[in-house]
Amino acid sequence: MVIHPAPRTPGSYRSQVTDPEAVYRQTTPKSRALHERALRAMPGGTTRTTTYFEPYPLYIDRGVGCRVWDADGTERVDMIGNYTSMILGHAHPKVVEAIERQAARGTGFAAANPVEVELATLLCERVPSLDAVRFCNSGTEATMFAMRLARAFTGRPKIARMEGGYHGTHDYAEVSTHPAVAEAGPPEEPTARPDSIGTPDWALEQVVVLPFNNPDAAERIIRREGSRLAAVILEPIIGSGGVIAATPEFLERLRDLTRELGVLLIFDEIISLRVAPGGAQQLYGITPDLTTMGKIIGGGLPVAAFGGRADVMELLDPRREPSIAQGGTYNGNPLGMAAGLATMTELTPDVYEDLNRKGARVCEQLTEVFASHDVPVQVNGAGSMFALHFTDEPVVDYRTMAAADKKKARNLFLGLLNHGVFMAPRLMGALSTPMDEDDIQQFVDAVDEVVGEQQHR
Ligand SMILES: Cc1ncc(COP(=O)(O)O)c(C=O)c1O
Repeated sequence: MVIHPAPRTPGSYRSQVTDPEAVYRQTTPKSRALHERALRAMPGGTTRTTTYFEPYPLYIDRGVGCRVWDADGTERVDMIGNYTSMILGHAHPKVVEAIERQAARGTGFAAANPVEVELATLLCERVPSLDAVRFCNSGTEATMFAMRLARAFTGRPKIARMEGGYHGTHDYAEVSTHPAVAEAGPPEEPTARPDSIGTPDWALEQVVVLPFNNPDAAERIIRREGSRLAAVILEPIIGSGGVIAATPEFLERLRDLTRELGVLLIFDEIISLRVAPGGAQQLYGITPDLTTMGKIIGGGLPVAAFGGRADVMELLDPRREPSIAQGGTYNGNPLGMAAGLATMTELTPDVYEDLNRKGARVCEQLTEVFASHDVPVQVNGAGSMFALHFTDEPVVDYRTMAAADKKKARNLFLGLLNHGVFMAPRLMGALSTPMDEDDIQQFVDAVDEVVGEQQHR
């Protein structure tokens, strides 16, 4: 862990101003200036909706281990690690070395390369469902190809997905990720709702929405759609939608049912691969037909993958006629492969165990903090991830998540930024290996202080 003496924090402003947005504005002038410049070149001054928040996003200049520095030089503990990707923290020496070595040898060729073979082999050895794998550049592409494969393999058009799950930003994926509850139909029979303007009507017709963690309702819908359904896709542990783990019963029901009806089961493990060497499928002991991966497998570079059963993946074999073409200038590019291989090599079973132990401890500590302030918050945890929801009710699906108080969440997020902690705006967190007890304590203490301050405002 890198020690940085006397970090500059915005603490001195706190006694003067108690409004977290006002403190944020006062302490981030360079981020504000960058954003004003960015507004002239990019819509809303951003190229990534998920890093934008009001009043303007934080601009991060550099990171080492579990610490990041913003454009004003303010240090924070990074509790989200590029939305769970940076499992080894920032600028890990082994990853930097692998990237430097590969960069000096060339970063991309119109040819296959030896490093992609290594990473593909490692993934197939670790993840139970993978007989074969293909690389792409983003999770969006991975789920898009997995769904296409399922349609090609089964000859059926429809895809079922969970209300509140997240699978990226292609047309089939942008349905009922965050619908307005008032427009989303009954909980046990959700209506397909577009997440974006521009989502084609056919997507709403071809995507079937299922209630997460409700096996009976999901079974009813799947049986009704069965003969037209190519796949059921889900995150076995919903990640950015609130860290909500599926119950074993729910996954078992989906596995049995999809097998019976000839529907492919796709686990989107783009986030949940960080919970065990073989992902959530290893923890639950349930093997899907296809799996999508991303985030940690690229060691911080844009790498994702999809893979699974040999007889399904075979459809991508260019020696076959017909086959699915999967072009991609940067698929399996050696730079990303080298960073991913260095990262995955560091991730031994002991490392996962240690991270998960720390994850469980953080959840306990956070639960104690909120209880001590008598603030009703659900601390959802899974492995080394967690999310905070300001609600009385256990958060087990989209509807219970959507009932949480978003204003309180925003105030806590901004308050934590002002106290030297960087989380996802929707209060999701993910631990990284460089975090020690002191880093974690700093985070928990910051939550304690901010909750205390905001309660007495
Ligand atoms: C479960 C899941 N699937 C798909 C995606 C999309 O991945 P990407 O942002 O790399 O396109 C994400 C991104 O957060 C994700 O969490």
